[in-house]
Amino acid sequence: GDGAGDMTPMDLYEKLTSQGDTVRTLKTEKAAKADIDAAVQLLLKLKVDYKQVTGQDYKTGCPPSECVVSQDNGPAADGEDMVDPWNVSTTNAKGVDYDKLIGQRGKHNGVSYAVTLCCLSFSRDMHQVLDAYEKNKSFYLYTGRGPSSDALHMGHLIPFIFTKWLQDTFDIPLVIQLTDDEKYLWKDLSLEDCHRYTMENAKDIIACGFDINKTFIFSDLDYMGASPDFYRNVVKVQKHVTFNQVKGIFGFGDSDCIGKIAFPAIQAAPSFSSSFPQIFKGRKDVQCLIPCAIDQDPYFRMTRDVAPRIGYPKPALLHSTFFPALQGAQTKMSASDANSSIFLTDTPKQIKNKVNKHAFSGGKDTVEEHRKYGGNPDVDVSFMYLTFFLEDDEQLEKIRQDYASGALLTGELKKRLIETLQPMITSHQERRKQVTEETVKQFMTPRPLNYSF
Ligand code: TYM
Ligand code: TRP
Repeated sequence: GDGAGDMTPMDLYEKLTSQGDTVRTLKTEKAAKADIDAAVQLLLKLKVDYKQVTGQDYKTGCPPSECVVSQDNGPAADGEDMVDPWNVSTTNAKGVDYDKLIGQRGKHNGVSYAVTLCCLSFSRDMHQVLDAYEKNKSFYLYTGRGPSSDALHMGHLIPFIFTKWLQDTFDIPLVIQLTDDEKYLWKDLSLEDCHRYTMENAKDIIACGFDINKTFIFSDLDYMGASPDFYRNVVKVQKHVTFNQVKGIFGFGDSDCIGKIAFPAIQAAPSFSSSFPQIFKGRKDVQCLIPCAIDQDPYFRMTRDVAPRIGYPKPALLHSTFFPALQGAQTKMSASDANSSIFLTDTPKQIKNKVNKHAFSGGKDTVEEHRKYGGNPDVDVSFMYLTFFLEDDEQLEKIRQDYASGALLTGELKKRLIETLQPMITSHQERRKQVTEETVKQFMTPRPLNYSF
């Protein structure tokens, strides 16, 4: 029959994911409305089936069997707080379920601040990585950044803070890809601009505290031409992925330049250890773990799909929670809209003004009403930001209750956030100032790291 009962949760999950790709392809190809509607109907039906079978809501990048809450060994997470970039705009103002998130944080006593605050979602093949770790087998970390401007926003920092924690905890090599080629292909920027942004962004990344003996940062524009092994992996991926596949995943159309169509292979290549012979001594089988936010999932869905076909292990993914825009969880932060986010280059005064003027408030319109009915912390951006950066769970819970009861006013809540953010950003700026051109050059030189393979 056609009942959901015939399918395993994993079957359903895969069907749903591929139906999501189909819907996006139809939309980008401007297919007939009736066809799109039919595909969307099927997608919705699959979501209902999925919920029936698993008791959970479907989340991109979080297959059913792997959404497990690990008790208290290491980077635990519950797979509940995933934000799907294509659904963010259609879900409610709560975005991430912060109630659950706070409940979850309580369980992480003793686990690092970075982990609890990044509120991770265990994701694909994480068990493989933990297995490798238990068996003393090595793995490595891979993350990246698309250098589209001088200024990173707070959201960009989240995966890097978390990556640093992983590096410190597991003591493993880390490679960081700066996709200046991607930004050249996607944006109206010159190659020189993109490369300059790469060098500037590298300083912000280094300022997060990565260990120079364990970290290789590279510009695609420089490393692709200098590393025969990297480029060989790029063409392997390119040979084994069809135009139809990338159309479905990324929504490419006939008028997209061919560079975009070929680019996903370049973001895939660092997932394979043989792309870095100087670090892994030619080994092809070192397991890769990729911390990133869910917006990068299309790339790594493709990568995981192609890996076994070219004889490599599939990379595992760890998604950090998506950091909401100042305007609320339904909108995405954008580097081109200065008011959509706090940037790492903002002055204390700018931070204050932005939070006061633009942070979406769950408070009531007048003080009287607020005192009487209380505010809604679940949709309040200042409160959401505090959940990321306030270290003390009890304080946070008290703020939450006081805000909900009306004892705490919006202005007071915003003040708390401003006082939390200002010193964070200022000390980041100070650390960044310490990063010299020479240090950047060292991080970006292909070289062996402090590990023997
Ligand atoms: P980019 O520069 O758009 O984003 C860099 C990293 O920041 C994450 N991110 C966010 N995390 C939390 N909240 C947000 N609001 C938010 N916005 C962005 C992204 O998921 C990413 O981890 N194509 C990539 C560069 C790249 C890469 C990678 C990223 C190349 N290889 C491997 C991750 C892993 C890009 O343009 O990222
Ligand atoms: N990462 C790039 C960006 O955010 C490129 C990109 C294009 C992309 N299509 C995508 C990222 C689809 C995720 C999903 O501009």
